[in-house]
Amino acid sequence: MSAPYLRLGVNIDHVATVRNARGGALPDPVRAALLAIEAGADGITAHLREDRRHIRDEDMARLKREISKPLNFEMAATDDMVAIALHTRPHASCLVPEKRSERTTEGGLDVVGGHDQLKIVTAELKRAGVRVSLFIEPSLDALDAARSIGAPVVELHTGSWCDAIAHGLSEKADHEFGRIRVAAARAQELGIECHAGHGLDFDTARTIAALPQIVELNIGHFLMGEAIFVGLPAALAQMRAAMDEGRRHAG
Ligand code: PXP
Repeated sequence: MSAPYLRLGVNIDHVATVRNARGGALPDPVRAALLAIEAGADGITAHLREDRRHIRDEDMARLKREISKPLNFEMAATDDMVAIALHTRPHASCLVPEKRSERTTEGGLDVVGGHDQLKIVTAELKRAGVRVSLFIEPSLDALDAARSIGAPVVELHTGSWCDAIAHGLSEKADHEFGRIRVAAARAQELGIECHAGHGLDFDTARTIAALPQIVELNIGHFLMGEAIFVGLPAALAQMRAAMDEGRRHAG
């Protein structure tokens, strides 16, 4: 059986990061989302952080109104964020851990310690018709907890794997990729849809695309960095080609 289509979710947070550096309205992250969709993105991801360091409330509202592809609302599992998500009604919410002091989302959710709170938030969002995913470490314990929480989707944190590659730590990279492979297979056994993201570039996206259980990659920082040099449509086309090439080797 051939592997299912691998969707590309484009994270536009860092267009807002650049905008906020000057305090004005440009560059507009919604324009980036529309351009990404025109260039083949299957969905748009945006993270409304508690400190609003990049995406702001009005960006989320505009994304929901203006884009024609699914909106994935990344958020912490707090009462404030749940209220905004219930009001916005995105296609999906990806629940992530959040620390003010971090530069980016460091590590997956504590699905064991935070089990009860995550279960309540997941149920609330699901009742509103929002597809919930949990951003987790690629571990079997985290997957079992995700199932117990009732999450239909998990997103595996690929940061440790990508970091190991970036630092030339090939043994560690192999170990981390092994964890991702095992976790993706376990997700399928549990009937949980499997996504992946964080730190992916052309090479790592090509490699991970060969895991047939993974049906969506969410990619932001690298793509926006490439877009500075070659433009967003060209960066997306190259990412799509890398994913398709990797997918041809799925099995
Ligand atoms: N998925 C999740 C849940 C994230 O928190 C992030 C980072 O915002 C990404 C994917 C995208 O990571 P990157 O910007 O490194 O591609």
